[in-house]
Amino acid sequence: MMTNETLQIIKQRRSIRHYKNEQIREEVLQAVLEAGMHAPNAGDQAWHFTVVQNRELLERLNLAAKEAARQSGIQHLSELGSNEEFNCLYGAPTLIIVSGDQNTFVPLEADCAASTQNMLIAAESMGLGTCWIYFVQMAFSSSQGADLRRELKIPEDYKPYYSAVFGYKNEEAVDIPDRKPGCVTYIR
Ligand SMILES: Cc1cc2nc3c(=O)[nH]c(=O)nc-3n(C[C@H](O)[C@H](O)[C@H](O)COP(=O)(O)O)c2cc1C
Repeated sequence: MMTNETLQIIKQRRSIRHYKNEQIREEVLQAVLEAGMHAPNAGDQAWHFTVVQNRELLERLNLAAKEAARQSGIQHLSELGSNEEFNCLYGAPTLIIVSGDQNTFVPLEADCAASTQNMLIAAESMGLGTCWIYFVQMAFSSSQGADLRRELKIPEDYKPYYSAVFGYKNEEAVDIPDRKPGCVTYIR
């Protein structure tokens, strides 16, 4: 099988759910953001990145998301929302929220997803752990959602689509399932 450094980084990236307390270096953060901004995009770079490194605000996002999860009516989510041990950001020191402009004529969701994935791969290449986090998005539908949006300075008309946490790994990924076979059709 063909391999190179890029392919190895893509294959070695796994979601990390335990982090060291230490903040990521500024130059590493800037390189991660730059990678995000180099993603393919249909909306002429109509995205916005919110970097949250304030511990108090990270905890409020966690608590607001858990509140919304408890009220979701979805058993799995409400169990996590009620679990005092559960931190949906896994104690990571940096959260990046990727928002997209709602006024573009193309759906920005794909642009923001591509950008998020670019950041995960770039972070892995620099020795960081990462995890894409849907759960924290629920904070925006909680009772504190509007206040949090304001505090996070998410631009008007932008929708926060995706979030991911970044930090130094406090675990090695062990459970790497084999890739499911049979998901490719070749027409040649
Ligand atoms: C859109 C999206 C949302 C996700 N949300 C969460 C989440 O809220 N919490 C979490 O722990 N992992 C989340 N993940 C990570 C997945 O659980 C993980 O990517 C998947 O189990 C495959 O594992 P791997 O990333 O280690 O390959 C999310 C992944 C994606 C793509």
